[in-house]
Amino acid sequence: MTAGPLDARTAGAVRGLAARATAADRVAPLSEQPLLWLTDPEPPAVHVCATDASGEVVGYAQADVGAATWVSAELVVDPSRRRTGIGSRLLGRLRSEAAVVPGRTLQVWAHGDLPAARAFAGDAGMVVVRELWRMRLDLTSPRPERPLPQGVRVRPFVPGQDEEAWRRVNSRAFAYHPEQGRMTSNDLRAREAEPWFDPAGFLLAEREGALLGSVWTKVHPSDEGRDDGHAAAVGEIYVVGVDPDAQGLGLGGALTALGLDHLAARGLSSAILYTGAENTVAIRTYTRLGFTKASADVKFGYGTQGSPSGVTMST
Ligand SMILES: CC(C)(COP(=O)(O)OP(=O)(O)OC[C@H]1O[C@@H](n2cnc3c(N)ncnc32)[C@H](O)[C@@H]1OP(=O)(O)O)[C@@H](O)C(=O)NCCC(=O)NCCS
Repeated sequence: MTAGPLDARTAGAVRGLAARATAADRVAPLSEQPLLWLTDPEPPAVHVCATDASGEVVGYAQADVGAATWVSAELVVDPSRRRTGIGSRLLGRLRSEAAVVPGRTLQVWAHGDLPAARAFAGDAGMVVVRELWRMRLDLTSPRPERPLPQGVRVRPFVPGQDEEAWRRVNSRAFAYHPEQGRMTSNDLRAREAEPWFDPAGFLLAEREGALLGSVWTKVHPSDEGRDDGHAAAVGEIYVVGVDPDAQGLGLGGALTALGLDHLAARGLSSAILYTGAENTVAIRTYTRLGFTKASADVKFGYGTQGSPSGVTMST
């Protein structure tokens, strides 16, 4: 178990493992934040690497330990080494990590809700505790008009100037959300340093100089073929957030529509977004704009953790 950054060689080996799993499973096993935390100097996360006798990384798990009552994890086993018990041993280490704080529960994401993950989680006595939908929209079809509320103006995000105001509104808008609501100014700056970051696709809505909400878009060079084998670039409505004081005015729908206009103007033909299956207000907003459900990620969990399982894993 390692806290802090992985050395560059190990981080590269984990990315290689994730790429092999993506090719085999047609869905990426590690999401954006865990990948960024591989090399973050002070991530609120611990790494568990399973290595074979030759030192090759054959399995990896990362536990987000930044919350008081739960640990959220992602784990992956090399496709050529599955059904040999590596996943179970990684899960045992995650359970031990969660149990360090009494009463803290462990939850594990299964991207794409693959049959192997279902069987694995079922074998470990876990049940589905959360579901995240991936929705898709054809950008070449006409979309309904969604005007901005009276007096609201939109402008692009200015790096170095807007971080703190955005973070404040984001944490108010996502106060209920376990990951998005915890995004720090550092997390924001890490994304600004990513090659995909483009302030022209990150729009802030203001009234009389006060920030009310924003839409942030992201262009993926390839769609990873998750639900329909699509290889073309795809645009994502990455984050839409509206301050609780400005909710109910139609701003969320209007901002999403502006984000879609931006992606269409970039020449993209399809857009995706992710939303919690329980977020009926958001799903209604996106459905009105033409989004439909394409696939789901699920999170498995169980109650209070038992005692450490005593497995030995090299890190
Ligand atoms: C899910 C995953 C981590 C399992 O790793 P693994 O090392 O193959 O798991 P284990 O060998 O420890 O399997 C433990 C048990 O899970 C069940 N299981 C695992 N994979 C299975 C499969 N493909 N079909 C049926 N049962 C399966 C079995 O009961 C197995 O015990 P058995 O082999 O003695 O029958 C691996 O398939 C993977 O990396 N998938 C992609 C990433 C992912 O979905 N992660 C989320 C996990 S919740």
